[in-house]
Amino acid sequence: MYSSFFSYNVSRPYPFRWFTPVVVVGGIFVTIAISVISVSTSGYQLVSVSSSDANATEAGKTLFSRSLGPLIGSMRPACASATIPLNTVMYTNNTAFRYSLTDVSMVDEYGSLKHQGSLVYHNNPLKNCTISGIQIEFEGMQRPAANIAQQMQGVSTLTSIGCNVETSQGTMTINLTAAYNYLPDDQALYNGKFSFLGRSASTQGSLYWGESLLLMYWLNLTNAFYLENKTPGFQFYKGSVSLSRDVSLPSDAADVESLDFFTNLGCYFLPFSGTSLEPLVEYCASSKLSDLVHASGDDDHPLPSIWTSVDTLSKALYYTILTDLGQEDALYINLLTDATLLTYFTSNFTAINESVSADKHPWGENLGTDPALATAPFTDTIAAAFDLRVNPSVLTADYLCQIPQLKPTGSLIISVLIADLVLLQTIWHVFQLVINYILGMRHPKMRFCEGCERSGSLLSDMEEETLKMGAYGAVSD
Ligand SMILES: *[C@@H]1O[C@H](CO)[C@@H](O)[C@H](O)[C@H]1NC(C)=O
Ligand SMILES: *[C@@H]1O[C@H](CO)[C@@H](O)[C@H](O)[C@H]1NC(C)=O
Ligand SMILES: *[C@@H]1O[C@H](CO)[C@@H](O)[C@H](O)[C@H]1NC(C)=O
Ligand SMILES: *[C@@H]1O[C@H](CO)[C@@H](O)[C@H](O)[C@H]1NC(C)=O
Ligand SMILES: *[C@@H]1O[C@H](CO)[C@@H](O)[C@H](O)[C@H]1NC(C)=O
Ligand SMILES: *[C@@H]1O[C@H](CO)[C@@H](O)[C@H](O)[C@H]1NC(C)=O
Ligand SMILES: *[C@@H]1O[C@H](CO)[C@@H](O)[C@H](O)[C@H]1NC(C)=O
Repeated sequence: MYSSFFSYNVSRPYPFRWFTPVVVVGGIFVTIAISVISVSTSGYQLVSVSSSDANATEAGKTLFSRSLGPLIGSMRPACASATIPLNTVMYTNNTAFRYSLTDVSMVDEYGSLKHQGSLVYHNNPLKNCTISGIQIEFEGMQRPAANIAQQMQGVSTLTSIGCNVETSQGTMTINLTAAYNYLPDDQALYNGKFSFLGRSASTQGSLYWGESLLLMYWLNLTNAFYLENKTPGFQFYKGSVSLSRDVSLPSDAADVESLDFFTNLGCYFLPFSGTSLEPLVEYCASSKLSDLVHASGDDDHPLPSIWTSVDTLSKALYYTILTDLGQEDALYINLLTDATLLTYFTSNFTAINESVSADKHPWGENLGTDPALATAPFTDTIAAAFDLRVNPSVLTADYLCQIPQLKPTGSLIISVLIADLVLLQTIWHVFQLVINYILGMRHPKMRFCEGCERSGSLLSDMEEETLKMGAYGAVSD
């Protein structure tokens, strides 16, 4: 007979009654277990998505990541940090003010300040925010005509803020500015009048009252400036007031109510100059609001009627911004979370609303209040409707994330099938190896083909015993 290079195995059925059920039932169990493992290890692919909450996306779970976490390894969601360049305009996730990033700096290992061109940001909470200054600009005829038609006098404010952010590169100091002008020059940018994007009286009670205070005292201030400026004596064309507070001083309720809350004040006003040259500038001779309010209105203490509104508008800016930035400090009282202070500062709302109601004034002073904001004071009877608190906040940015996603059905089936076949085959071979070893040990004749065994019935029991001992050493039967 010809003998080929390739050969085949002679096979014999296993002589165990339990073998078939064990292999069938065990096979089904093992197949299911292997399929689950291969879906979780090779059934997922990473896809790119953009997310506004990097931490929530990174904490996301797939069906198997809880139980089989270590097997999945790198198949976990991951987000890249966002790079926010200087001058970017952004919101916090409370969506109140627009902030401009003006500076990013850190103290390097040699102790010197290093300015960065951008902030590498990963949803980090803002810490230790302080208001470093508030600048109020009075503007009149230089504004767009459409704005003058609505309100003769304009006021724009710019608040400077410093915060710390703990990033992966170290603790950064970031500087932001926030502008407020109810009737902004660039109306297209603000869609008409300034308003917070995410306004909600029920879920953001403190910010709602903050914005109401801003509008009321912006109206009261622009009207007061206009009325007093109309009288002979003062004829100011432009003006500027800057206020700041020693932020290391703690503040209590009496401090917040006090006219000396802002420890440093500077102002100057420019009368209209017919020659456009060197107008006579009027400076405030005092750096205290309490002096200016009670002054008689001489050249060094101009416009006594504007200072209470300047004070309340600035405090409203101060606390609304700290609230928007999620700053809560037990040492410092916040006028937007303290019901007594809020009652005090909104107590004139009815009078102001009355003073600006639409038909009260002629052309040029007819900007009314916003019916979507509060026009009546905060009182105990309505307090229950508002949740006055500071919500934690982060700067909003878009993050590029990689998240695991189940493969499309076709490639999922193929990859599970391949993994199943490879593993099942391996397990089957190992199982066979073990069973064949045991079989050979217990019944050496089973190593012969059936024909050989029949002719081998010539073998005596003694010879069989010898065969066993020879092949496998002394094994007791
Ligand atoms: C988000 O995660 C980063 C680190 O990945 C952490 O520094 C930051 O504090 C987290 N932000 C929040 C709001 O938990
Ligand atoms: C915030 O200020 C406290 C007290 O001055 C300080 O201990 C803490 O390290 C500061 N946090 C950051 C992030 O700089
Ligand atoms: C940034 O803010 C900090 C804290 O308010 C302030 O000390 C610093 O002068 C500011 N830097 C710039 C460049 O505005
Ligand atoms: C400013 O508000 C007060 C109430 O605080 C009111 O009496 C006054 O008339 C208002 N001034 C103007 C110019 O609207
Ligand atoms: C309310 O108006 C009165 C009278 O005009 C004034 O004395 C008081 O300071 C005002 N209160 C606030 C918080 O502006
Ligand atoms: C505020 O004034 C408007 C008219 O300009 C009026 O309709 C509204 O009822 C007033 N609000 C309150 C609380 O008096
Ligand atoms: C803003 O983000 C912080 C931190 O992730 C979160 O605690 C807070 O609820 C968010 N606020 C809003 C209004 O979604």
